[in-house]
Amino acid sequence: MSPLFVLLVSVLVNADMPQPFKRVLQRNDDNPVTGNDVLIAQTLMDRSPFVQANFTSGVYDETMETAVQSFQKGHEQLNPDGVFGPETASLALKLHIRDGYKHITMIPANYTYLIKVSPHVNRTIEINATLFARHSKSLLIEDSVPVPVMEFKVRCHGKDFAPNQFSTDGDTPSGLAKIDLNSAEADTKDIGPYPINRIVEGLDGNLGLLAPNIRNGLLIHTGEWSGWTPDQPMPNSDGCIHGHPDDINKLWKTLVGLGVTIRDNPYGKLPYPYVPQGLLSVEEIE
Ligand SMILES: *[C@@H]1O[C@H](CO)[C@@H](O)[C@H](O)[C@H]1NC(C)=O
Ligand SMILES: *[C@@H]1O[C@H](CO)[C@@H](O)[C@H](O)[C@H]1NC(C)=O
Ligand SMILES: *[C@@H]1O[C@H](CO)[C@@H](O)[C@H](O)[C@H]1NC(C)=O
Ligand SMILES: *[C@@H]1O[C@H](CO)[C@@H](O)[C@H](O)[C@H]1NC(C)=O
Repeated sequence: MSPLFVLLVSVLVNADMPQPFKRVLQRNDDNPVTGNDVLIAQTLMDRSPFVQANFTSGVYDETMETAVQSFQKGHEQLNPDGVFGPETASLALKLHIRDGYKHITMIPANYTYLIKVSPHVNRTIEINATLFARHSKSLLIEDSVPVPVMEFKVRCHGKDFAPNQFSTDGDTPSGLAKIDLNSAEADTKDIGPYPINRIVEGLDGNLGLLAPNIRNGLLIHTGEWSGWTPDQPMPNSDGCIHGHPDDINKLWKTLVGLGVTIRDNPYGKLPYPYVPQGLLSVEEIE
């Protein structure tokens, strides 16, 4: 085969890769294949009942090749070649994009608030989020029973055509993350004029994998959306959680009432310079 032909075929095969993947992944010991896409592929393989490994190295090494082969052998429509190509990637996403994360039931020590949201796989359906405060006043030493304080409508729909939490502009990922109250962003049209909640660091589930290294800048915010009225569904986001203006205005005031400090917005700066005051728990439901 001519090198040009090989190049052309590989470009075509890469174009068939489902989001968030942009290239076929395979082992190459001379020039090891690494990256966030490998990390995502490894997470998907880890969730397969056919894979025994436990790895998140981000390197497409021999262990990963063996894992992909085990996954492929478990699904007879796939060719067991150890290459993470379009068909393998599509099936892996279809079967294992969901993290199985379940809501926490207590607010751990050192967190002042918890926001729980349970979006459907079909993110078009808007749902309510709930803000919880601590029952126990001793912030530093004990976990606390959450007390509901405020309920508000949200939209967790990203910009992808297919449900996909791993793409940069895909649906809001499920899982658990540290969040914090930041001053309003400069772009009031798209992000609203009120203080926002920033997802700072994922702790569990897909958020644990993605935030902030793969998906940074996920916020809970509103917008001054032109032509939008509160009786309409909110616009899709880039994975942020959208709320109505009145609710996001009430949210930050309620948080301040609970003793939460508004931190001067560092935008996407990493590492995040403050100790986060809250938690976000996102449990995806059918
Ligand atoms: C994989 O790692 C997790 C987290 O360290 C651990 O809880 C689990 O038992 C491990 N599973 C296997 C099969 O080694
Ligand atoms: C998702 O939900 C919307 C709103 O309820 C509905 O119109 C749409 O048909 C649903 N899509 C799928 C694929 O079920
Ligand atoms: C809470 O934070 C304080 C101050 O940083 C620390 O000393 C304490 O160990 C933390 N408590 C828990 C349960 O993590
Ligand atoms: C969502 O919250 C609003 C405001 O509290 C409430 O009026 C509404 O009934 C809630 N909707 C659902 C489906 O729980």
